[in-house]
Amino acid sequence: MPATRPGATGAVISGWGTALPEKVVTNHDLEKTLDTSDEWIVARTGISERRIGGSTASLSVESGRAAMEMAGLTPERIDALVVATTTPDRQWGTAPIIQRDLGLSCGAFELNAACSGFVYGLVNAHGLIAMGAERVLLIGTDTLSRITDWNDRGTAPLFADGSGAVVLESTPHGSQLLGWDFDADGSASELLWAEVGGTVNMDGKEVFRRAVRIMVDSAEKSMRHAGVTGDDISMIVPHQANIRIIQAACERLDVPLERASVVIDRTGNTSSASIPLALAAALEDGRIDHGDLVLLVGFGGGMTAASAVLRWGGEKGASA
Ligand code: COA
Repeated sequence: MPATRPGATGAVISGWGTALPEKVVTNHDLEKTLDTSDEWIVARTGISERRIGGSTASLSVESGRAAMEMAGLTPERIDALVVATTTPDRQWGTAPIIQRDLGLSCGAFELNAACSGFVYGLVNAHGLIAMGAERVLLIGTDTLSRITDWNDRGTAPLFADGSGAVVLESTPHGSQLLGWDFDADGSASELLWAEVGGTVNMDGKEVFRRAVRIMVDSAEKSMRHAGVTGDDISMIVPHQANIRIIQAACERLDVPLERASVVIDRTGNTSSASIPLALAAALEDGRIDHGDLVLLVGFGGGMTAASAVLRWGGEKGASA
């Protein structure tokens, strides 16, 4: 989809924050309970360690508070809270708990698009701003350790917990969002799914194959809508599911791997949190400058995919 309708108010990210549980679980820890090895996990996934613990609400409050602080905003100034998660603490009502604990007085809701959730949320947040909200807090959090079968070596090494948040604010200049895409392929729904109250079921090989395809397709659509190519992208922030998926997607998109933000080695797959965690890492390492083109691309169970091309800091001087 093209970015923002002509005349609609655009948005920029003005603050971000992250939260990871304190408990580190290394591949060597997993070797003690699973028929696996550090060498296998590193070679096949790129993961060395992951963080486990906390609740979706507690991690969200920590990352959300940090994002508001960086944006210099007090809680009453936030107009909407969007929480992307596939592991809410309760069947319903997790976002309102986060709203309460952050001291917000705005509406709050959860959004579940599996590991694509943060990018779905990002585009929805731009939509809320186009419809009149001034400031939106978007949090992506997952506690996948709660829905992982720790006796299954096919999934246990992959999944983990974490949270990342951004504040979006309306801008009188051009929006940062230049192009976006949402995708879903329900014919692949049996490849990666979890029953309510159950654990993750996954056909890893087939998910891998389709993941690269659906990610690349979505990213290409966003870049086409934005009128840019892989050459123009300064930083790609992909979903952190497997380093080999990231490598294959970068290759097909003509974006060198050096221009990808990668945190999977230390976080594992944190679903809705993986893209904001990787975005924050790139920002904190000074790898994204004002005016850079940033491509966010996620995929996940369902299967879903979503991508967005951002001009970091917004299109200065352009009319909204
Ligand atoms: N430790 C050691 N050996 C393992 C293992 C583990 N944790 N898991 C599987 N193996 C073995 C298999 O039994 C198989 O042995 P065999 O050749 O004797 O039959 C061998 O390793 C290869 O297994 P395979 O499943 O083909 O490995 P793979 O290269 O496809 O890697 C995944 C498995 C799960 C890492 C990979 O398929 C993947 O990442 N898929 C995508 C999953 C994903 O991203 N999910 C989330 C999406 S949001």
